[in-house]
Amino acid sequence: MAEQHSSKSIMWATIIVAAILIAVIYPLTANKGGSTATTSSAADEADIRIQPVARFELAKAEAPAASGPRDGATIYNTVCGACHNTGAAGAPKIDDKAAWAPRLATGKDALIKSLTNGKGAMPPKGGATLSDDEIKGAVEYVMGKAK
Ligand code: HEC
Repeated sequence: MAEQHSSKSIMWATIIVAAILIAVIYPLTANKGGSTATTSSAADEADIRIQPVARFELAKAEAPAASGPRDGATIYNTVCGACHNTGAAGAPKIDDKAAWAPRLATGKDALIKSLTNGKGAMPPKGGATLSDDEIKGAVEYVMGKAK
């Protein structure tokens, strides 16, 4: 009997809570229903509500262009390291100072030219699409590391 009583009161408690929730939520939704005018304003409100998210997505999509050229370290790690970290294709390894010394001696402009046009087994621009600034940055990064 006691058990039955408590399950009954749980049932009533549930019904009361549900009724309160409906009483609170229904007016909120009912305000926006009705004529077409309020429907379109509800759509506007939905637009406004998703705007911060939409703006964030836009900002993310535009980020690469807005952030300008990638820096030398980024280029090196994504493009050049494949060969210059391992010596693949006979590339001078980044930490092989003896291999770099005569190349560094030719000067930055010559190295930029080698990278731009390709040299030996190295394809032009290391096989990637790089702007002039990015080529310069990558060469400067390599020169700094290989010294
Ligand atoms: C496919 C492998 C490969 C990739 C990728 C690559 N290199 Fe090279 N790199 C080489 C090889 C091989 C040489 C040696 C070429 C030679 O002297 O015949 C070389 C030489 C160089 C030299 C010396 C050029 C000279 O005049 O002696 C520089 C500077 C250089 N690489 C920078 C880079 C940079 C910066 C990147 C990334 C943007 C890059 N490399 C990507 C293979 C590569």
